[in-house]
Amino acid sequence: MKPIQVGLLGIGTVGSGTFKVLARNQEEIKRRAGRGIEITMVADLDTARAKAVVGEGVQVVNDARAVIANPEIDIVIELIGGYGIARQLVLEAIAAGKHVVTANKALLAVHGTEIFAAAHARGVMVAFEAAVAGGIPIIKALREGLTANSIQWIAGIINGTTNFILSEMRDKGLDFETVLKEAQRLGYAEADPTFDIEGVDAAHKVTLMSAIAFGTAVQFDKAHVEGITKLAAQDIKYAEQLGYRIKLLGVTKRVAKGIELRVHPSLVPAKRLLANVEGAMNAVVVNGDAVGTTLYYGKGAGSEPTASAVIADLVDITRLHTADAAHRVPHLAFHPDAMSDLQILPMSEVVTSYYLRMRVADEAGVLAKVTGLLATAGISIDAVLQREADEVGGEGSTQTDVIILTHDTREGTLDDALAQLQALPSVLAPIIRLRKEELS
Ligand code: HSE
Repeated sequence: MKPIQVGLLGIGTVGSGTFKVLARNQEEIKRRAGRGIEITMVADLDTARAKAVVGEGVQVVNDARAVIANPEIDIVIELIGGYGIARQLVLEAIAAGKHVVTANKALLAVHGTEIFAAAHARGVMVAFEAAVAGGIPIIKALREGLTANSIQWIAGIINGTTNFILSEMRDKGLDFETVLKEAQRLGYAEADPTFDIEGVDAAHKVTLMSAIAFGTAVQFDKAHVEGITKLAAQDIKYAEQLGYRIKLLGVTKRVAKGIELRVHPSLVPAKRLLANVEGAMNAVVVNGDAVGTTLYYGKGAGSEPTASAVIADLVDITRLHTADAAHRVPHLAFHPDAMSDLQILPMSEVVTSYYLRMRVADEAGVLAKVTGLLATAGISIDAVLQREADEVGGEGSTQTDVIILTHDTREGTLDDALAQLQALPSVLAPIIRLRKEELS
């Protein structure tokens, strides 16, 4: 049988990796897919760069629409990124009856509902393993491997740039700005790292995992998104002294009232495997009612790791494209007419535990006032750490830091209590509040 023909839109880092791995492993891939898979057409604005990667025998054009219009092409890989032209091209490819493979988490997290509906109506597949955690096959695991389970929660380190920054801050005791500059110099962080450091990239990814895990619509606009830009080296140190590490987690959880969907820095017990994921690596923990807790670890970015995920999707499509559309794995794991209307909860309804750091006057009765106020609010304390004033503010200092770990509390209750604590005359600076995930 003649190979299935693939058109590639955008041949940057991931596109080049896809081309190389497909060429290098073509025999084995063919034996798995039952048919050869060939990239026969590439569109990139930089045609010279594209030609240098693909060599002779592959048609290179600068117009993505020429790929979509080619009747020989069965699958279009979109590696342009962003919400703009990529959305238009993916919708045009679907309308033209092409199956689509994309690594574009931003596009699917924001426009997934429209794109999956269009694909369903046209009877084509949109595959996106590469969109979440790069080379880790987490979409496959959630959608197929764990299909017996009622998934309870997912917590993941799904942004390598921020995990690298946090690892460096902890190892070297450096502040955020210094490490960010170093990460940019080393090429880990983009020149504009906003989506990474503000938690947006991780929120795109956890939004997709949440939809697949719970069978809900893709709802990025309801996610709580908080990055690491305000994280102080001091809190990383105090967390360490209390037996925790701080990680930027994407969390989604099924609770009685609905679904939690959030990205923020979190204290994680140092003994958990997730707390020991260092540098630019990614890891995702999934808890299902039957299987219990499972962990997926690997490279979340990079040329060939991401290509590994793109090619897995190409193989899936090659195996399934002749199957009746109703017999394929649904895009979001659940059949479109059997989706759940569980609501994403506002942060005030989220229940978790907390780390609070308060700069207070070092005088008699302050700790009693703080703990008394928390007790009145019904917030239970798990641990208290008070630093020597000299250690915090230098010799003769009249200020000190009090760090409190709470037990599980509704966030709305904590917000009210924090407003009251902040108003105490003995509390001398804005209170730092971080969330804590025990992951047990
Ligand atoms: N910028 C992402 C990260 C990789 O740092 O993990 C692509 O999703």
